[in-house]
Amino acid sequence: MKKNLYDENKPLTDSFGRPLKDLRISVTDRCNFRCRYCMPEEVFPSDYTFLPKHKLLTFEEITRLAGIFASLGVQKIRITGGEPLLRKDLPSLIQMLRSVHGIQDIALTTNGSLLPKYARKLKEAGLQRVNVSLDSLDDALFSKMNGGRCNVKTVLAGIEAAAEAGLKVKVNMVVQKGINDQDIIPMARHFRGTGHILRFIEFMDVGNSNGWNLEKVVSKREIVERINTEMPLEPLKPNYIGEVASRYHYIGTKEEIGVISSVTDAFCSTCTRARLAADGHLFTCLFASEGTDMRSLLRSGADNEEIKEVIHDIWTRRRDRYSEERLFHTKKSDSKKVEMFYIGG
Ligand code: GTP
Ligand code: 5AD
Ligand code: SF4
Ligand code: SF4
Repeated sequence: MKKNLYDENKPLTDSFGRPLKDLRISVTDRCNFRCRYCMPEEVFPSDYTFLPKHKLLTFEEITRLAGIFASLGVQKIRITGGEPLLRKDLPSLIQMLRSVHGIQDIALTTNGSLLPKYARKLKEAGLQRVNVSLDSLDDALFSKMNGGRCNVKTVLAGIEAAAEAGLKVKVNMVVQKGINDQDIIPMARHFRGTGHILRFIEFMDVGNSNGWNLEKVVSKREIVERINTEMPLEPLKPNYIGEVASRYHYIGTKEEIGVISSVTDAFCSTCTRARLAADGHLFTCLFASEGTDMRSLLRSGADNEEIKEVIHDIWTRRRDRYSEERLFHTKKSDSKKVEMFYIGG
């Protein structure tokens, strides 16, 4: 066993001085929705070949890696997918991750459809909060956006179930111009007063199949202006350096909304996130085209110090800042990006 190579008190930083603080873990590449901006049905039909079980990291492997990441400074874990609640027995993983020393925040990003079934079990397992996606309150439009897989009522029931179980809830709405931007105000009205934080997400050019272009993006500025005309807003300071959403509150209230502006106001300069795909590949950016195969390393019998050294090396060399560079070279992407449902949103 090698001796510890790193000074425990010195944070691990990348080539731009950004510390490693968050780990987003995708537990499956499967999803029961087919959102057109993520997994359009014609490209990813129901019989699409997803990862076979033996290629998925086991819960033991995920927990072991989480421990190593925590020893390098990670404090926050987010479970994503695909749809993470499709992974069998997910509450057990939450319970295992809870015992990892140094992890202060465990959250889940979900489409909400299975929350009525799992919210209580997740809370009992130690989950603190969920971020639920919902793009419209208009049933016909929502269904069209998710490939005809779910109605609004089901997701609202999921949100309700999560809140009842004692989970903190944020709601994510991906805004696309000409598709659902007319729903910005109805969504704001609906969630105002519920205690759930609604976040508007600028449509991003993730993956290779969602037909993204800049004209389909509604900017943070425009989103805030539109809401502001009816419900005056005031910016809030971030809760911590590197928070993804810009926060606002309705003036005179404690009620908050957020806007995630990866396109028009990128936040790469404070990006502290690593991403672990369901098959154990490690990525240092949502828009990466290549990752490092941690599953093979784990299964080769490497000890924790060796794995730690590999992660340390990857993070130290990290230079990703895709969203900051995007506006200079989006005419045609040079290399194939990984799909968001695989890498974990
Ligand atoms: P909180 O911890 O509650 O603030 O969650 P979060 O906003 O970090 O996570 P969530 O899964 O809810 O993500 C919301 C949106 O932000 C999704 O569209 C993500 O893809 C996007 N997002 C999260 N992290 C990054 C990032 O590092 N880069 C980019 N470009 N987008 C990100
Ligand atoms: N642009 C912006 N957000 C996206 N999401 C999925 N695809 C995109 C995209 N192309 C969102 C989901 C979910 C979160 C994980 O990422 O709606 O809220
Ligand atoms: Fe599934 Fe989320 Fe992708 Fe929609 S955005 S297809 S819910 S993984
Ligand atoms: Fe981080 Fe990459 Fe997103 Fe920039 S584009 S914030 S580097 S994940």
